[in-house]
Amino acid sequence: MTTVGPKLSIDGLIAELKTLGNISEAEPPVVTRVVFGEADLRARAYVKQLCADAGLAVSEDAIGNTFALWEGTDPELAPIGTGSHIDAIPNAGLYDGCVGVLGGLEAIRTLKQLGFTPRRSIELVIFTAEEPTRFGIGCLGSRMMANALTPEKARNLRDKQGRTLDELRAWAGFEGSLESVAMPLGRFGGFVELHIEQGPTLEREGVDIGLVTHIAAPASLRITVDGEGGHAGATLMPGRKDALTAAAELILALEAAAKATGAIDTVATTGVCDVFPGAVNSIPSRVRLETDIRDIDGARRDRVIDSLKAACIDVESRRGVTITLEQVNADPPATCDAAILAALEDSAKAAGKSYRKMVSRAYHDSLFAARIAPGAMLFIPCRGGVSHRPDEYASPEWIGAGVQILARTLAHLAS
Ligand code: GLV
Ligand code: MN
Ligand code: MN
Repeated sequence: MTTVGPKLSIDGLIAELKTLGNISEAEPPVVTRVVFGEADLRARAYVKQLCADAGLAVSEDAIGNTFALWEGTDPELAPIGTGSHIDAIPNAGLYDGCVGVLGGLEAIRTLKQLGFTPRRSIELVIFTAEEPTRFGIGCLGSRMMANALTPEKARNLRDKQGRTLDELRAWAGFEGSLESVAMPLGRFGGFVELHIEQGPTLEREGVDIGLVTHIAAPASLRITVDGEGGHAGATLMPGRKDALTAAAELILALEAAAKATGAIDTVATTGVCDVFPGAVNSIPSRVRLETDIRDIDGARRDRVIDSLKAACIDVESRRGVTITLEQVNADPPATCDAAILAALEDSAKAAGKSYRKMVSRAYHDSLFAARIAPGAMLFIPCRGGVSHRPDEYASPEWIGAGVQILARTLAHLAS
């Protein structure tokens, strides 16, 4: 196994992360890069150029998943994949996803510099729309790659302005058939994703690397509450059908159901609440909620969803509102591959880095990559566990350790 030396310099990588962070719809240091927006397209162009400069062969599929290939001596073998995403939720930071993409590229460049020759090809993947911001569903690119979202269902996706996935991807320059995005089992010989933890454990325990054994099962629901609007002064309280007070009951019922499992791993969030017409002197007639429910135990997560559905029936009958509920996704958890975890562990030991096994409570493209290839993830710490915020931060030392372990692992798996 090729030694990736301790003298690895990642100054260039840190500069690239900052440059990528400056490509934003918002004023830096705030990073906002919604898929198929103008900043997303500029960011894609920047990363593709870096890949081409590193001598990788760049290609894209019909939804904009981007592949940068370092061909091995035996191109018949399925490549070893690594990568993540570069789209960013509104008001995000520099590192979520981007550490896995630019860190993956840095691992490849390092192996090249060291004169390593891969037998299996190594392929960097930049997945389209890991974040659900535009289409309301996470991991769009990897989900479609793993055939977990059919092209037919994908064609029904719309953004808040009503624009379809087909319209938007065509605008962004991705025009092939959506049917061509799905990949067969075995598309990769293995897949390894580097990511910031997005939680506080590694930093708090002073551990360099998290070896992810499981990725929690995410689900997302859209709820529409239709009540009766009216004048806030002239409509008396008895008999009102206020859509927002009904929705408030659902938000609290969901929180209570998540807490009631007694498991620390159950989490539920209502992150979107659109009120119509949204005037202070008007009774809300319609409310749209978007909820996110996760657990490492898929069945327990589903029982929380069942409680929410029961609350909808109860609130409907007591308040005379109409509630419609659409389940956007309810994905099973992923189990990471034991052999890849062992390779990561060996790499951490060889590099003298401390590590611990852990669960990913956030979802990642690896949730879906694991359906078409043996896969695992490695986490590095992030300051205060903060993520999805502009003050998200991972130190160069943490990033360097992650890249070093990733490079060693890719070299091992590609040998
Ligand atoms: C990914 O961004 C997630 O919400 O877990
Ligand atoms: Mn994210
Ligand atoms: Mn991410």
